[in-house]
Amino acid sequence: VFELNRVIAHTGTQWPIWQAPMGWIARSRLVAAVANAGGLGILETSSREFDVVRRELHELGSLTDRPWAVNLPISFLKSDDSIVDDVLHSDVRFVTTSAGHPGVYAQRLLDSGINVYHAVSSVDAAIRAEDAGVCGLIVEGHESAAFRSVQEVHTFTLLQAIRRRVDLPIVAAGGIVDGVGMAAAFALGAEGVQMGTRFVASVESPVHGNYKRAIIEADGDATTVTNRGRGPCVRVLRTQSSEVLEAGGHSFGQALRDTRLMYFNGNMATGLASAGESATLIDRLETCQAIIDSTIESFSATVDRLRFC
Ligand SMILES: Cc1cc2nc3c(=O)[nH]c(=O)nc-3n(C[C@H](O)[C@H](O)[C@H](O)COP(=O)(O)O)c2cc1C
Repeated sequence: VFELNRVIAHTGTQWPIWQAPMGWIARSRLVAAVANAGGLGILETSSREFDVVRRELHELGSLTDRPWAVNLPISFLKSDDSIVDDVLHSDVRFVTTSAGHPGVYAQRLLDSGINVYHAVSSVDAAIRAEDAGVCGLIVEGHESAAFRSVQEVHTFTLLQAIRRRVDLPIVAAGGIVDGVGMAAAFALGAEGVQMGTRFVASVESPVHGNYKRAIIEADGDATTVTNRGRGPCVRVLRTQSSEVLEAGGHSFGQALRDTRLMYFNGNMATGLASAGESATLIDRLETCQAIIDSTIESFSATVDRLRFC
């Protein structure tokens, strides 16, 4: 079914299913579990803990013989982008860029034989990325977790709008947790999907059980976009901490600084518990292998069902 899939051609993976880069979370254990299950695991660098990331860049080769990738969040690397040289001199053959102008690293990476996809949240950004020569796009709708664009266009509309203007392969992100969402994204023009929240609540994710449980128990209108209109805004679970932040009880900077601690000590009253609207659709903890297998299975079942609609 994926015979002509350009995302698979670019990444070399078995399936066009990606685990999103996530600061402190998308480390070698999670990346290798996704790669070994046939998807694309993406190592984060947004934590800027380069000593750890560097070590993991080298360790990953012993944890999987399948392809995996690295994310370079451009604006996060302004003060120190030494990790880019490590990536250029590693075995990595696929990079995603985000949070900045795609032209900053694209040519150097492409010249080294590395395929590059850039994450966008608007038609204008997609056209800029195409002009910068990237191989493909990650199209992130406003229902996505974590840092969000000021342009609040959701996946359903954004995929179609970008597909009409740009011919590059598209990986859809935001609101997808299984093969039903994947089939919908493919109908709208995608050739791959990236999931973040789904993999936070996976067995191999390194975060505290309280954070995973909060995602699994999330229902209805469980997320909110915080810091809107004041600077970078972020989609998070509604928690005591997000409410205190909105009420002006602590600063956005303080909440960001507390986030790493919350990930690992599970104190949900502090930090920012990034999650997409997709949290509502996640109802159990699963291994990466089970997530990817069931996504492919329900994708095929959905495509079959649509033939008779
Ligand atoms: C906890 C968390 C941290 C994230 N951190 C990053 C990041 O460092 N860089 C990035 O490009 N995207 C980051 N994202 C966003 C994802 O890349 C992805 O686009 C998004 O999670 C898709 O929506 P979904 O969570 O509904 O699947 C993060 C997402 C989550 C859940």
